[in-house]
Amino acid sequence: MALKLILDCDTGTDDAVAIMAAAGHSALELVAVTTVNGNVPLSNVTENTLRVLDAIGASVPVHIGAARPLVRPDFPIPRHILNSKGGVHPDYLDLPSSVSSPAEASAVRFLVDYYLGSDGPQTVLVATGPLTNVALALAAEPRLAERIPRLVLMGGARGWGNVTPAAEFNIWVDPEAAEAVLTAGIRDVTIVPLDATHSAPVSLTDCDRFDAIDSPAARAASAFIRHRIENYKDAPGNSRVDAPVHDALCVAYLVHPEVLTDVREWPVHVETRGERTIGQTVFDAREWSTEPRNARVALGADPKLFVRFLADAFAGDS
Ligand code: BDR
Ligand code: CA
Repeated sequence: MALKLILDCDTGTDDAVAIMAAAGHSALELVAVTTVNGNVPLSNVTENTLRVLDAIGASVPVHIGAARPLVRPDFPIPRHILNSKGGVHPDYLDLPSSVSSPAEASAVRFLVDYYLGSDGPQTVLVATGPLTNVALALAAEPRLAERIPRLVLMGGARGWGNVTPAAEFNIWVDPEAAEAVLTAGIRDVTIVPLDATHSAPVSLTDCDRFDAIDSPAARAASAFIRHRIENYKDAPGNSRVDAPVHDALCVAYLVHPEVLTDVREWPVHVETRGERTIGQTVFDAREWSTEPRNARVALGADPKLFVRFLADAFAGDS
């Protein structure tokens, strides 16, 4: 039987690949997608999500979530100053405009009702954007902490960052939400940080392999990943030949747990007040720590297995 999952995401080029892999792989059943402010403003995220699902002919409900972080009016450095437009995540994904519409229930309403319902305890929640929706749902209905059987999230890094020297984007956008989610008492939390996603980059050669599959998902994923490779910040003269596709690694993990390597069980918290460290994930590697070990953290990943998973999902014959 296929494993049910809900994707909470801020689509985004790598979220788009995650959605297509989740919708396409026969071992998975994508129950719904919930959208959250992040890579692009919420209305763009929702439109992008609908475009992706329409492009691959997947009829999956899309629920609109939070337009801003939990307690802050904007990102720690406001979006217009950070200027995250363009680059790795264009305002709109290069796909035809959506023809389908979002579902009526909000993301938070949907998450609460779904996880209190009978399928909740069998459905993994995969969060590949800022954790605002998940934090709001847990605040609205604290019993969700026991009803969500597993949370897999892309976020954080061990001692480095991609938006500041200390912080990874998803956690930095809404650090209060991330801390609330990590301390809510969900029993099975796996964190896929930059350390793992950068260990399994996807290359131009891998894109050629996807092109040869020639399905709508394979073609779109290849285009998004090529765009990521071209626009990666640390690509001097565009000489890079690969880029991480962070969010899709969370989905690969559901089918192939061994795709994540060097997995540690640690107490994990998020810095919410530091002057230069807001959004930093603090992984407590001390063996003698008495703090609850609230998450598993993967420090590595298997690039070959990751790409094989993507190819299987896009071929639709997995
Ligand atoms: C994460 O931030 C976003 O830009 C990506 O979609 C990914 O979820 C990587 O730091
Ligand atoms: Ca994302």
